[in-house]
Amino acid sequence: MIYKYVYGNPFDTEAVTSEVPLAEGALPFGSVDTEDGFCFTFIMEENDIVYGLGESNRGINKRGYCYVSDCSDDPNHTEDKRSLYAAHNFILISGNRNFGLFFDYPSVITFDIGYTRMDTLQVTCGSADLNLYVIEGGSAPDIVKQFRRIIGRSYIPPKFAFGFGQSRWGYKTEKDFLDVAEGYRCRHIPLDMIYMDIDYMDSYKDFTLNEDFNDFPEFVRKMKENHIQMIPIIDAGVKIEKGYDVYEEGVKNRYFCQREDGSDFVAAVWPGDTHFPDMLNEDARKWFGDKYRFLTDQGIEGFWNDMNEPAIFYSSEGLEEAKELARRFAEEENTVHVWEMGGKLQSLANSHEDYRRFYHNVNGERIRHDRVHNLFGYYMTRAAGEAFERIDPNRRFLMFSRSSYIGMHRYGGIWTGDNKSWWSHLLLNLKMMPSLNMCGFLYTGADLGGFGADTTRDLLLRFLALGVFTPLMRNHSALGTRQQECYQFENTEDFRHVIGVRYRLIPYLYSEYMKAALNDDMYFRPLAFVYPDDRTARRIEDQLMLGNEIMIAPVYEQNADGRFVYLPEEMKLIKFLPDGTIFEEILAKGIHRIDVALNEIVLFIRSGKCIPVADAAECVDSIDYGTIRMYGYEGAEYTLYNDDGIHKDYDNKENYTVLRK
Ligand code: GLC
Repeated sequence: MIYKYVYGNPFDTEAVTSEVPLAEGALPFGSVDTEDGFCFTFIMEENDIVYGLGESNRGINKRGYCYVSDCSDDPNHTEDKRSLYAAHNFILISGNRNFGLFFDYPSVITFDIGYTRMDTLQVTCGSADLNLYVIEGGSAPDIVKQFRRIIGRSYIPPKFAFGFGQSRWGYKTEKDFLDVAEGYRCRHIPLDMIYMDIDYMDSYKDFTLNEDFNDFPEFVRKMKENHIQMIPIIDAGVKIEKGYDVYEEGVKNRYFCQREDGSDFVAAVWPGDTHFPDMLNEDARKWFGDKYRFLTDQGIEGFWNDMNEPAIFYSSEGLEEAKELARRFAEEENTVHVWEMGGKLQSLANSHEDYRRFYHNVNGERIRHDRVHNLFGYYMTRAAGEAFERIDPNRRFLMFSRSSYIGMHRYGGIWTGDNKSWWSHLLLNLKMMPSLNMCGFLYTGADLGGFGADTTRDLLLRFLALGVFTPLMRNHSALGTRQQECYQFENTEDFRHVIGVRYRLIPYLYSEYMKAALNDDMYFRPLAFVYPDDRTARRIEDQLMLGNEIMIAPVYEQNADGRFVYLPEEMKLIKFLPDGTIFEEILAKGIHRIDVALNEIVLFIRSGKCIPVADAAECVDSIDYGTIRMYGYEGAEYTLYNDDGIHKDYDNKENYTVLRK
């Protein structure tokens, strides 16, 4: 059962797509105070687990910390951070009673989940103008399903997007990309996508190409002939440059976000000074979305949207203030402390003051950015998603974004942003997966190997061993870090094997993804969702259920040659050995020490179930479904989903085949 409480005069985020009945009377759980802003308070029972918040820091159970939805371009995801790139304001309290809450509020909102007081959940925001959706149900999965129904079907990518992709900030020329293709193909390490980071553009101008690309359509065509899709990045800020068509058109039509005085707001991002297209203005959104045609017309079938919190390194106003302080720092002895100077420079990015400096035009109404800050990435990706519908309504395009709000899950996936080559981030990223699924984001994954800092061979292999299971499987790294392509390390056959296992599992992973998307279900679940009465399973955060058949338990510690795994029921261990064979063993319910070498992939099949496994392939196109063999329990059945992977013929019954072990 779902109902909606309306407080004040909420901004219509369009996160929810179905009609939800208005509630009558007081909230059934907790209390609300609207004296000074908005404050929801609920006293948690000791056994309550709080799930949700999608892409956020810390655990699957969010208890014990404070999280702030305030989309931020922060590349240092340390344990103390409260805000990352997304605002996913859905939480689910699961204990003696289960209920879900979606705070549909597009500005800063704080979730104090047992931080101030260990037993108290408090959700607060500055103005009492929001829609609060309350969802009651018998179980946690049931609540998630009801929630997912009202926010609309999750985005479905083309099938090639389930292949492996290589990315790195710094690839610039045709030769750079050809070298990557060659590096993978000549070692027979599977590959389906190469990502084009900002250097493919001319001076970081969206919808341009640098001078190295002579015949881009031909280059894209050749890559595709080699079964590699090129996936360019699009940034939110449009470079200010006379004569650049996107800039000129945006200024002329007043499509950019403006200051109070009507001038176009200026923010520095990668290209230097930029303007932000007003993604919340329908005309501007259509205009910006149609710009993607510049690349789709040349054969491009996928994109990643970046810097769309929106990231602001500094605004003109902020820079002026810093310069003034620097002048005093230099000239007026002892009036400005070094730390004050340093602090000022550091505070230029992600500045709330800047968010108050520009406006959106929403159906003729002027809305100050800070009131709707968390919607920018969502609406940028919506611009692209709506444009893809116009370009070819029956075709799927790959799209994922850095910033997001619930609602964006209908238009694209997300990646988890600038993680680091840290073992702790392997675990952090694993834990985000089920929370993201609860909020509708199914096509997700982390920068495998880690984005910032230097990776190591073992960390990359273990990251890949998680990535084998995440819908988005991409190796990405930052400029200036150690080269991180799989072929930069010794014994590349280990990488060929590990990524090869991904391709062997695609018949299963793709089926489970499609079933999850088509039924408003989860692809990754916490163990507690499947074994709610198992006290141990309820607290496990480093193992996940994937689809309806398997459990995964990635290794996330350096120098570990395996790990302890808890089996909530009897399961069949499946180990993909480097020689291509598969080791199988039935294990009893309970705790087991499992050996997992760096070049092995392990999964666990639930009792009475089976999964399809194909032969390895070097690209999605060449997976031979004729080679599928069933692994798991004798007599089990599995419903395979498969389609052409390109079009949207999802409801065709012929997409389903029942296979037996
Ligand atoms: C941002 C993105 C990262 C990208 C970089 C350069 O930091 O999160 O993925 O490589 O910008 O475009």
